[in-house]
Amino acid sequence: MHIVVIATECAPVVKVGGLADMVSGLGRALAQRGHVVELILPWYDTLRREQIQGLNVARADLPIPWWDGVVHCTVHFGFVHGLPCHFVEPHSRDNFFNRGPLYGFPDDPLRFAFFCKAAMEYLFVTDRRPEIIHTHNWQTALAAVLLYEVYQPHGMNNCRVCHTIHDFRHQGVCTTEVLKATGLGRPKYFLDRERLQDDADPRMLNLAKAGIVYGNFVTTVSRRHAWEARFSDQGFGLGHALHMHQNKFGGILNGLDGDLWNPEADPLIPHLFSADDLAGKERNKEALRRRLRLTAEEKPLIAYVGRLDPQKGASLVRHALFTAVWNQAQFVLLGTGSDGNVNDTFVHLKHHLADNTDCHLEIGCDEELAHLIFAGADMCIVPSLREPCGLAQMIALRYGTVPIVRAVGGLADTVFDWDYAPLPREQRNGFVFEHADNTGIESALHRALGLYRERRDLWRQLLVTGMKTDLSWRHPAGDYLNVYEFIRHK
Ligand code: GLC
Repeated sequence: MHIVVIATECAPVVKVGGLADMVSGLGRALAQRGHVVELILPWYDTLRREQIQGLNVARADLPIPWWDGVVHCTVHFGFVHGLPCHFVEPHSRDNFFNRGPLYGFPDDPLRFAFFCKAAMEYLFVTDRRPEIIHTHNWQTALAAVLLYEVYQPHGMNNCRVCHTIHDFRHQGVCTTEVLKATGLGRPKYFLDRERLQDDADPRMLNLAKAGIVYGNFVTTVSRRHAWEARFSDQGFGLGHALHMHQNKFGGILNGLDGDLWNPEADPLIPHLFSADDLAGKERNKEALRRRLRLTAEEKPLIAYVGRLDPQKGASLVRHALFTAVWNQAQFVLLGTGSDGNVNDTFVHLKHHLADNTDCHLEIGCDEELAHLIFAGADMCIVPSLREPCGLAQMIALRYGTVPIVRAVGGLADTVFDWDYAPLPREQRNGFVFEHADNTGIESALHRALGLYRERRDLWRQLLVTGMKTDLSWRHPAGDYLNVYEFIRHK
């Protein structure tokens, strides 16, 4: 099958969040199965160009009609981790992709509408007729609208769109000027409840909704989150659209990139280990303690690795830290704050606890330290209030670090509680709590610490189960292929 992925991130060349890992992970899994996978990405000023192999110019001039004129683009081509990628560089004073941060500008809808238009035009003029176009999030949802409203009658009629929503909160709500700029026009036609009209504000377009309406199949990144999006406030107002299109909506859990995250062959950790030989894990714990100057006493080590923001349950992270220290455990945190207040809280906490040799807070990004923490810690907390899929719990499982998670989204689909999960013991791999409050995380932590201290044999069984849980892209890639096959013949 020929699959073209239109996305705004792809690891490791451009990454803000988990979207980047998902795009490259799925792409490579599909390519390994013999499918032809190509990616189209914006040419950002912040691209890590050293991660692109064989970079050259694929098309020196790609003129894109825009408003009443034309924007000339250069399309660059190269391989990212073996995947062929096309990068669109517009030459215009709007300076769409040379702004440092990827997102967060008032003209984001226009910037990414332009990208969609350029991507579709590129496919069209280079005679690419993929069976599947896979788009991600509201930023690229307009590609499906352009396909059906503009390109299909011009020979792209065998092409189908799979659209994945990684986060329902951000929806690209915007005025109808996007229609004018892209040449879609017809504001009356599109500003219709059945099409692109925002359900909350009838004067506005909603690009996330565009993906739901025009995509031939719509996925989100876990089954639990598909349910949450439809039946809880986590759909952020898109519940009605999802209801109308429920027959083409479902959840597929992301996989974990086994080349990047593999304790048996990870170049970033000092001691390799496996489910059959855990000696290296012990030694990584010692290495981690030495590096962060923690006391070398026999104490369980609890970690948090991730963004420090309210949605990730930052206040519960703080509570877990104190719970750990009060209960003769150690705590290690690695994260950055996107929210000013939360960041301040943790910076303050770091100073407050500077003399405590049972905990360490590292505010910032450090890829190598992240690997060492996952390899060396005994437990890892993921107390998110909202988590469509989540990566930390999967990495933790893979590295024999027992996850303690809140029962939400992808966390609920990957972690099964040691005491309560309705599954046989051999399949339970962590601890889960329901309520996003201090009591919730505290009770899960106590259960985990209890098992660790009193039944080391069972603890070992628990972490080995986690390491053996299949989190690879094998199943998800198969699920996406089934989706592709299903829509292809419609
Ligand atoms: C978003 C979600 C996260 C998910 C990622 C990749 O960032 O918040 O839960 O893992 O997308 O799909």
